Amino acid sequence: MGSFTKILIASLCVVYIAVKWSTPSFDPESLRGARVVVTGASTGIGEQMAYHYARFGAKIVITARREKVLQEVAEKCLSLGAQKALYIAADMASESDPEKVVDFAVEKLGGLDYLVLNHIGPSPFSMWEGDVEHTRWLMKVNFFSYVQMAWRALPSLEQSKGSLVIVSSLLGKMTSPFTVPYTSTKFALNGFFGSLYHELSMKKSNVSISICTLGLIDTESAMEKVRGVTNVPAYPASEAALNILITGATRQLNLYYPWFTQIITILKDWTPSLTNYLIQNSYNYNP
Ligand SMILES: NC(=O)c1ccc[n+]([C@@H]2O[C@H](COP(=O)([O-])OP(=O)(O)OC[C@H]3O[C@@H](n4cnc5c(N)ncnc54)[C@H](OP(=O)(O)O)[C@@H]3O)[C@@H](O)[C@H]2O)c1
Repeated sequence: MGSFTKILIASLCVVYIAVKWSTPSFDPESLRGARVVVTGASTGIGEQMAYHYARFGAKIVITARREKVLQEVAEKCLSLGAQKALYIAADMASESDPEKVVDFAVEKLGGLDYLVLNHIGPSPFSMWEGDVEHTRWLMKVNFFSYVQMAWRALPSLEQSKGSLVIVSSLLGKMTSPFTVPYTSTKFALNGFFGSLYHELSMKKSNVSISICTLGLIDTESAMEKVRGVTNVPAYPASEAALNILITGATRQLNLYYPWFTQIITILKDWTPSLTNYLIQNSYNYNP
């Protein structure tokens, strides 16, 4: 083994041990009675997060566009142990709905401990052919609504020593083909909330921010897009959801799930040509 490889492996081990060592332990009791909003909770990772919060005995407000589905998820949350499970249908592309959701939750729950921003608008998995309107719309749903909701919720989170949890993606750290508008929205989220984190820390704010970097997760919407197109492994939505919950509850800034997304994030800048080659060749594409 060459000395570069040895140094690389040793550095990665040191980083891994340091991360594990500094990870605070999770107390499930801390979520009993916690007042939580989860967006994009009608399906996928958001739905799984709602169920986990419910099992821990939280008071939950869930939101998405489809009211009927939200009602079913809320009923299941109650059966799993949620102290409260309320829902509100909202379209995050609208000017007023993002703030309406926060106001509803603060009023019905009597305050807020966790704002978990997770929703995404549907976006095609294909080469970008100049659809500026779709890109603008997706920015509204995947980015601006997060900004609006966070700003509206900050006073309540400040009061409760609460947490802002942002569900992002490896594609918020690394570019990729076929997802140009989506990737742009995730980079915007990482830039905004990464910068806001500094300002809150410098102001000695009570509010913690967690930014969750996820790899491919086996939700219906994701698998529908990548089936037969890539062999990248998909990880379980329920486990991803639990990791997000724990990251928020332990007030950690970053989650990388699965773990190797952190290694990819580090290595991509060390070996840009190799990374670009691997990205482009991880898809079956025949022009
Ligand atoms: N799955 C993955 O492979 C993967 C990988 C990395 C990161 N992530 C991140 O994980 C999060 C969840 O992903 P997912 O795969 O679970 O997504 P998903 O299954 O597609 O769910 C998206 C959620 O957003 C809601 N939604 C869509 N458009 C909306 C709108 N205009 N207004 C309000 N709500 C809207 C949907 O419900 P309605 O249709 O009822 O509105 C649904 O509840 C996202 O932030 C995503 O970027 C996922």
